[in-house]
Amino acid sequence: MQFHAPTGQPTDRESTVHLIDRQRPGWSLEQAFYADPAIFALEQELWFPRQWVLVAHASEVPEKGSYIVRRLFNEEVIVARFGDGEEDIAVYYNVCTHRGSRLCTKDGRGRLLVCPYHAWSFRLTGELQSRQDIPEGVDPDALGLHRVPSKCFGGLVVCGLEQDKLPDIQPVADGLTPGLLENGINRARIVARKNYLTKANWKLVLENFLECYHCRPAHPEYYRVNGHVKVTATRDADKAEEWKNEVEAWHSVIGDAEFNKGAWEAGSLEAMPFAMHRKPIGSGRKTLSDTGESVSCLMGGRQDYDGGESGFRIGRLSFASAANDYVTLFQMVPLSATETDVILTWLVDKDADANVDPDAISWMWDVTTVQDKKITEDNADGVMSRVYRPGPYTPLESQTSFFVQTYLSELRSLVTGERSEPLTAWSAPKELFASSKAATKKVVNG
Ligand code: FES
Ligand SMILES: [Fe+2]
Repeated sequence: MQFHAPTGQPTDRESTVHLIDRQRPGWSLEQAFYADPAIFALEQELWFPRQWVLVAHASEVPEKGSYIVRRLFNEEVIVARFGDGEEDIAVYYNVCTHRGSRLCTKDGRGRLLVCPYHAWSFRLTGELQSRQDIPEGVDPDALGLHRVPSKCFGGLVVCGLEQDKLPDIQPVADGLTPGLLENGINRARIVARKNYLTKANWKLVLENFLECYHCRPAHPEYYRVNGHVKVTATRDADKAEEWKNEVEAWHSVIGDAEFNKGAWEAGSLEAMPFAMHRKPIGSGRKTLSDTGESVSCLMGGRQDYDGGESGFRIGRLSFASAANDYVTLFQMVPLSATETDVILTWLVDKDADANVDPDAISWMWDVTTVQDKKITEDNADGVMSRVYRPGPYTPLESQTSFFVQTYLSELRSLVTGERSEPLTAWSAPKELFASSKAATKKVVNG
């Protein structure tokens, strides 16, 4: 079998496997993985269809009949609310079953989805409604919209490309929903959204997102605000001890050590990775804002600020961070071998004051993501040099290194059809997030 890249350059299975096998564990990848359209085409064919990703927040389709047009990898999809129940949201490919026109060109509301080309109309549940022009012998029931596999839980709409290639989503929904509800993500509204189109391969974007080694040199604001950076961005044993004590003291008051769930890197193609954790922001800060003071009302029925941040991993390309009074959703959307859209969405409680300040709410992650875009694009530029060679991941980049190993092993098994040995799941050092009971070992970062 041959894989044909958009450039017309075929990549045969043998040379792809050879390329994968010569990557050195614990080192960054060769240039081809970050730039070659043939590798991206392989990922599009084999790897992306296995991934569930965050596509929308349920509040974007607030009422029966609301629909929105969103992106799912290289596809355009319609997210439509067909009923009042929490899960009454269906997702369709934005492709008319008559001759393939885009069906919806913008977000809207209506009883039917009507194609602008020849006016075929479809119910919000996907069936073809207008049947008068269908030629004899053609079954109108077979002309319903193409359904996109989707799952709505805790206020998130999560989708994938192909039902029979996707891992089971139910364990993820079961695992994450209590934490999403606890943070009020199901009863939130959007206050801001920004795109950070990054001229870099999606793996470079993710590699950067999964490590905080760069946080000290690259993110002065993030470094100033977040106590955990003392551990994740430095090799300072005293600071690590100090942070461990702060986390232990915080958890002993908060009492939510059970919040640490899942594995940040699952290590198996058959399982969708998911995780959640809670940790204090530190230094008495109420929330992730410039001053540490509140920026909106409390979420999730909290009675008081506890100064914590909940982190969620939803599959490989979507994340969420919940401070006590606002939430940030992260979507990494691979567009091409050298371009990735990074979309951030900020949520507040649905009953929050209409005058909340979106700039104050988005400040932390906006300033940080602008910096991440710059450093990742510089990384992508350097990787294109004739002298670029893979370099070693340091202990402070252990999650990044693990992700790269998982990706290689998954791609290999998809190309060869051979099952690879699943890697052991990776979790952040317990001392970063866990209660004093769980935090018994000395901090060894990574
Ligand atoms: S393409 Fe949609 S009605 Fe013809
Ligand atoms: Fe960063």
